[in-house]
Amino acid sequence: MKPKEKLREHWGSRLGFLMATAGSAVGLGSLWKFPYVTGQNGGGLFVLAYLVFTLLIGIPIFLSEMMIGRTAERGPVGAFTSLGGKEKGWRFVGWSCVIVSFLVLSFYAVVSSWALNYSLLSLLNFTRGKNPEQIRQVFENLYQASDINLLWTFLFLALTTGIVYRGIRKGIEFWSKILMPALFLILITLLLYSVTLEGFPEAFRFIFYPNVNKLSPTGLLQALGLACFTLSLGMGIIITYGSYMQKSEDIPKTAVIVAGIAVLVSLLAALMIFPIIFTFNFPPEEGPGLLFKTLPVLFEKLPGSLLLSTIFFLLVVFAALTSTISIMEVLVATITETFGVSRGKGALIVGGIVFVVAIPSAASGSNGIFTHWTEVYGMNFFDTLNDFCFTWLLPINALFIAFFAGWSLSKQVRKDGLLEGSSWAFFYPPWIFLVRWVVPLGILFIILQQSGVV
Ligand code: PFF
Repeated sequence: MKPKEKLREHWGSRLGFLMATAGSAVGLGSLWKFPYVTGQNGGGLFVLAYLVFTLLIGIPIFLSEMMIGRTAERGPVGAFTSLGGKEKGWRFVGWSCVIVSFLVLSFYAVVSSWALNYSLLSLLNFTRGKNPEQIRQVFENLYQASDINLLWTFLFLALTTGIVYRGIRKGIEFWSKILMPALFLILITLLLYSVTLEGFPEAFRFIFYPNVNKLSPTGLLQALGLACFTLSLGMGIIITYGSYMQKSEDIPKTAVIVAGIAVLVSLLAALMIFPIIFTFNFPPEEGPGLLFKTLPVLFEKLPGSLLLSTIFFLLVVFAALTSTISIMEVLVATITETFGVSRGKGALIVGGIVFVVAIPSAASGSNGIFTHWTEVYGMNFFDTLNDFCFTWLLPINALFIAFFAGWSLSKQVRKDGLLEGSSWAFFYPPWIFLVRWVVPLGILFIILQQSGVV
């Protein structure tokens, strides 16, 4: 029995793998982050930058991560250590992915907990008898209630830990296959409502017509960070999911399908939210509370609002869950591979540590832990972490991953790794060009621009 236990677990079916990967990609990045960052950056041009970055930078890195993971059959630390060979420094890129995963999961769990909270609030019919301003105030109250946020963050992390504890097929794959199609269905239904609102044409213009004056260099870097984030890049997630992939699976096709789904959901989410904003004259540059402050206003106007609202927020929870299980899997794979602990124990340890790290984020609406944080840094702990991960850590990790895949790996490993099981051999030449030149130069340029050097 011994050698068998050492075999790496693989996804049970192609559909299951695809759903799990799409589940990781489609999450709060598309439903929560994309709309509010688009709002803050004035719409059209930012959306265009996001699309271009997804195509020219996101997809090539996605292919690189998947190739690295499938070839090494390890999480990020193991993968960079084994494929890096004598160049030992690469393993730091693996560790950097792990650290970013910890940080991202810690504040992502807090946002997910807001969605969990809103599911319960919806069941309690919290919008009844309230005007739009009062409905929006509910979020402000929640945001400042550190103890409530802590409780729900704990519950959400317990849920994530439970699924990862069960393993790849019985946990992650099983749930992704159910949750993903359900999410899609409800999104389309809500979009149909939004289309009928009088603010829809203005929203459409806002999202799709470039407004040159509004986009700053920081906005560009945010678009880049978001393109990486919505595809789950720079955190070792795709490396880890790739490591459970069969050699017969098609990497280029998977990348195109997953990127297509993530972009589609981001655009659908924006198309669903902005008509509400323009119909009720809310400010588009609202920030992280946007999703929670606007949608309940729409729900209140609709028949069956209790059901609709509950289902919607539950689905946000599910979308978040299929993403958090992917990021927790990175951490669990790393500690099981590095320290030899069992998956179950690994999941419990990771869940516990992430909860502790999440405490300052959960308490940041009231500056509950770091009381002077906002005075010193100009924004609260949650916003600082959220911003820092997007504008710096993800793009920098993505840069190193591109260097590794494009320049450090041998041609044999790189080409075979990417194309094994694929009928899309034509993908190799454009991919290698993008990953060697366009991705590193593009990211460097944007970083230099943000630093004021260019
Ligand atoms: N693609 C995911 C999203 O857009 O939400 C990225 C992600 C973030 C995955 C955080 C997992 C996670 F915990």
